[in-house]
Amino acid sequence: MAVEGQNIPDYENCENNAERLSRELLALSRVSAALSELSDLDAILRITLDNVLQITNGTVGGILLLDEESKTLSYRVYHGLTSDIVEKIHLKLGESISGKVAESNKAVFLEDTSKDPNITFPELLNVDGLKTFISIPLRAKQQVFGVITIASQIQRRFTQTDISLFYAIGDQLGIAIEYAMLYERLRKARERLRRLARQNLVAEEEERRRIARELHDETSQSLSGLSLQLEAIIEIAQLNGNLSADFIGKLKKVQSLTVHVHKEVSHLISNLHPALLDTLGLVPAIRQYAETSLQPLGINVFVETLGNVKRLPSDIEATLFRVIQGAIGNVAQHSKARNAIITLEYRPDQLLFKLKDDGQGFDVSKITDIEEGGRGRGLFSMRERIGFLGGTSGIDSKLGTGTTVWANIPIGQEFYYAEKNKSPRS
Ligand SMILES: Nc1ncnc2c1ncn2[C@@H]1O[C@H](COP(=O)(O)OP(=O)(O)OP(=O)(O)O)[C@@H](O)[C@H]1O
Ligand SMILES: [Mg+2]
Repeated sequence: MAVEGQNIPDYENCENNAERLSRELLALSRVSAALSELSDLDAILRITLDNVLQITNGTVGGILLLDEESKTLSYRVYHGLTSDIVEKIHLKLGESISGKVAESNKAVFLEDTSKDPNITFPELLNVDGLKTFISIPLRAKQQVFGVITIASQIQRRFTQTDISLFYAIGDQLGIAIEYAMLYERLRKARERLRRLARQNLVAEEEERRRIARELHDETSQSLSGLSLQLEAIIEIAQLNGNLSADFIGKLKKVQSLTVHVHKEVSHLISNLHPALLDTLGLVPAIRQYAETSLQPLGINVFVETLGNVKRLPSDIEATLFRVIQGAIGNVAQHSKARNAIITLEYRPDQLLFKLKDDGQGFDVSKITDIEEGGRGRGLFSMRERIGFLGGTSGIDSKLGTGTTVWANIPIGQEFYYAEKNKSPRS
């Protein structure tokens, strides 16, 4: 008998009904609890299917989801069915019972399938003795996301309460699927953004390296040559005595301006991409940057290393350098510290970085977002960059007690990967 959810008389005695109802409500509350706790779609579907199988004494069953583009239903989780059959099933709307349920948005309850020869269940052909069959739409805001189908070898009658309960499960699951799909879309979009951001950082570093190289090879060399030539001209003019003191004074000014511009360009090159980072690695580059930025401000800086210092793949060294550069910049700009200690600890599978200053500290809980003026950008970009390397980072600070910035990043695997890729060429 096919029942579509309306006015079914309650056949069973009250005692059995009460028992069954409490069992079913318990299952419903388990489904609700699972739905509210989980965001992983497959886990949600699996737990719901298990519970519905349990309350219906189901032998076989599954949850089919509707693909929005192809408008076909396919199994996402199932029980008691063989994968080779299930994987081939893609039901159009209106096709077979599940397709009809999805199309009409109405559940189907069959109390004895053997009495209905017109019913086709392509996936159930190999299961003997099936009697009861339930197919419920999974819907949210009248939109159908899929269907849950259950078949049982035990014949049963469906009361109005049963039907309401199964609709309730279908509706709850529909909402959970909608949320899980939205969450999944959001997660994928975020993942895409992170990948893009990481690629941008790599491209930015490469561009910085290229501009630094060009400035060094072209501009810096020319300025150095110009300065030497001016020096030679001044010396010759002074020896020959054929130029006025005033003119020689002007030449000297031009020469010292050239030296000044040369220094500025060297500074710019170092900020863009310190040559030391490529030649000698992270520790010397950090030491040089820390000393040149903090010592002129009267801040003593110590750079200490622990463990076996080793070279890391260039993108890891560059990312770490930018993070530490930001933290050093913050000490210079905001800390009013007298001392700063930078520690780099090389463990076999981890690199631990710490920068501790004894300055005025700040209330970290107040930095919740990037402000209009850029405040917070440094700290958030540190967390992102370290995240790209699969690491974790943090900042501990209290007003009046100084600030500690730290980061841990995994290096074993990355290093192995880099080494492995190098070997065929070397
Ligand atoms: N070592 C520190 N000592 C004291 N205050 C700090 C320290 N590091 C960060 N801060 C506080 O945290 C705020 C946020 O730092 P963040 O690096 O994110 O931004 P910013 O330095 O203001 O801007 P930007 O880094 O873009 O120049 C700073 O404005 C400062 O108030
Ligand atoms: Mg900053």
